[in-house]
Amino acid sequence: MKRRIGILTSGGDCPGLNAAIRGVARAAYELFDVEIVGIRNGYGGLIDGDYQEMAREQFSGILTLGGTILGTSRQPFRKMTEVDENGVDRVSAMKKTYSKLKLDCLVTLGGNGTHRTANLLSQEGLNVIGLPKTIDNDITGTDYTFGFHTAMDIATEVIDRIHTTANSHGRCIVVEIMGNKAGWLTMYSGIAGGADVILIPEIPYDIKKVAEAVAARERRNKFSIIAVAEGAMTVEEAEMKRKDREEQRKISPYNSISHRIAERLTEMIGVDTRNCVPGHIQRGGSPCAFDRVLATRLGVHAAELIRDEVYGVTVALSGKDIIHNRLEDIAGSPKLVSADNNIILTAKNIGISFGD
Ligand code: F6P
Repeated sequence: MKRRIGILTSGGDCPGLNAAIRGVARAAYELFDVEIVGIRNGYGGLIDGDYQEMAREQFSGILTLGGTILGTSRQPFRKMTEVDENGVDRVSAMKKTYSKLKLDCLVTLGGNGTHRTANLLSQEGLNVIGLPKTIDNDITGTDYTFGFHTAMDIATEVIDRIHTTANSHGRCIVVEIMGNKAGWLTMYSGIAGGADVILIPEIPYDIKKVAEAVAARERRNKFSIIAVAEGAMTVEEAEMKRKDREEQRKISPYNSISHRIAERLTEMIGVDTRNCVPGHIQRGGSPCAFDRVLATRLGVHAAELIRDEVYGVTVALSGKDIIHNRLEDIAGSPKLVSADNNIILTAKNIGISFGD
C-alpha cells in the first residue's frame, strides 16, 4: 500500500510544529510505503500550488527546532469561500492542487481557523486529518494543544523576572500575555508565576475592583503583578459590539491593554506602574519536553489514521490517551475558560483577583 500525503502548517506558528511534522513523517515511513509533499506557507501554498517533494532526511534534526520548516500564513476562514483579488476561487484552487499532486490525504497542523478550513475541505470530499497546535490551548476536544506548555513556561519566566524588579521598586507591573479570545495562557502562567490579579477575556473586569486589589497589596506587600490577556475587556466593553469595542480602543493612544491598565491604575490610586509585553517571544524558540512528547504522540496517531484510512478527523489528547474527534464536531467552536472551571476557584482561593 502506497500513500501520498500532503502536510501543511497554517495560522500563527508555535513551538512543537516541527516535532509534530517529524512524528507524522517518521511513523508514516515506519508503518507504510509513503511519499510526502510539503505544502509551503499553509493554505496559501495549497491555493497557489507552492509545494516541495520531501525526502526522508528532511524530517531529521527538527525535533527541537522552533517555528515550522514548511512556513505558515494566516488565511482567515471567512475568506476561504470568497474569490480572491485575482479572481481565484480558493476552495477550487485547493482541490485542484490536491488532485494535481495525487494526494491520498492532507494533514493540516493548526488552530481554530485551520480546523474550520480543514472541515470545509473534508466536506468538499478531500481526505483530511488535523493536528491541534496553538499556544492559546483553545481547541475543543483536546485537553492540551502543542505549543501551549512551551508558551506557558516562557510567560511564567517573564512573570518570575518581573517579580523581582517589581519587588525591588515597590511597583505594580502589568504583564500582557497572548490570547485574544481565550485566557488559558494567562490563567496558567499567572498562577505559575504568582500573579496577584489575572484578567482574561472570558471574565470581564471592573477596573475599580482591580484598583482595590492592587491597593490592598500595596498596603501589605508594596508591589503587585497583574497578568492580563491581550483580549481581556472591561464589563462595559463586554457589553459592546465587537466593532464598537475595537473602535473605542483605537481612541486610546496605547495599542496595548497592559499600558492602558497601568496608566489607569496610576490615575486612580497613585501607584507607580510599568507594563511589559513579551509578545511573540511566547511563540518563539525550542519546544519544551512536554510539547515534544505531545506533538510526537499526536503526529504518530495521525500516521496510524492514514494507514487505517480514517479521515475527516483531528487528533487530540484526552486524559492519558491520544484519540481523534470528527472535524465537524469541533470546528468553529473554540474551547474557552468556562465560568465553572475549577481552576478559577483554585486561583480565587489563594487570593487572586479577577477584577470581577
Ligand atoms: O493564535 C496564537 C496567537 O499568538 C494569539 O495568542 C495572538 O492573539 C495571535 O496569535 C497573534 O497573531 P499574529 O502572530 O498574527 O500577530
